[in-house]
Amino acid sequence: MSTTFQNAPCAVVTGAARGIGLGIASRLAAQGAKVALFDRDATALAAAAAGLESQGLKVFTQTVDLTNGQQVAGAFEATIAAMGTVGFLVNNAGAVRDMRFLKMSEDDWDLVIDTNLRSQFLCCKAALPGMIEQGFGRIVNISSRAWLGGFGQANYSAAKGGVVSLTRSLAIEFAAKGVTVNTIAPGIVDTPLFRDFTPEVQARLRESVPVKRIGNADDVANAVEFFLSPSSSYVTGQTLYVCGGRSLSSPSV
Ligand SMILES: NC(=O)c1ccc[n+]([C@@H]2O[C@H](COP(=O)([O-])OP(=O)(O)OC[C@H]3O[C@@H](n4cnc5c(N)ncnc54)[C@H](O)[C@@H]3O)[C@@H](O)[C@H]2O)c1
Repeated sequence: MSTTFQNAPCAVVTGAARGIGLGIASRLAAQGAKVALFDRDATALAAAAAGLESQGLKVFTQTVDLTNGQQVAGAFEATIAAMGTVGFLVNNAGAVRDMRFLKMSEDDWDLVIDTNLRSQFLCCKAALPGMIEQGFGRIVNISSRAWLGGFGQANYSAAKGGVVSLTRSLAIEFAAKGVTVNTIAPGIVDTPLFRDFTPEVQARLRESVPVKRIGNADDVANAVEFFLSPSSSYVTGQTLYVCGGRSLSSPSV
């Protein structure tokens, strides 16, 4: 096991029961971090923790609806009681409900804004007082290349654009307190959703990426690791695209 995060304060990763969040949590745990996995899916969370434990990596889990302020506050209290101060926060939980704008209901709008943006507001509010007290904090907010705009993605693009703006504002407000706040904007990442597409659609999507491959959770974890490590202590308020160059092409592709 590497020791990058050994003896460091605890790291919270949200939406960590599967997908990119699990990849990030797994990377940090393998680097010696004390990691708390937050997710609302208790079954997937238990399976994720068991999978990590089978690799000798012990993690803490909290079943929590990240759109609920009381639950978020309770999850942070329980984490701090069990693991000590939180120094690292990766706001990864997200959801999509893509559809044409005129078919989009208020519920479709609220669910996507709440899951992707409100959850980050709530987790930052819960984590920042402790970070300020210890004069150290590293926050990474997961956005998406889709914040540039996407067909049928008005709710998701608006939420992910909000993530970029939230990040920039918090970076300014808390820079002097030893807290950096940065954003990662992934492109197409290999997830069950991608694998559900027909081979033709998968090939078309892959072809649309300038580097001619889709990303994986490790690509995103590499960027997270940079933002949480001492190497990035002079970097704050930035958006790093992890998308194989796809941010350089037309937003609606
Ligand atoms: N997969 C991609 O291609 C891609 C591309 C760009 C950005 N992203 C972003 O990366 C992040 C992770 O994406 P993913 O593909 O791994 O997603 P995913 O759907 O596989 O996992 C999301 C996790 O968040 C959890 N979650 C959702 N709503 C929650 C809530 N209210 N409370 C607690 N947990 C909740 C889910 O249970 C799930 O475990 C998201 O923010 C997503 O928008 C993904």
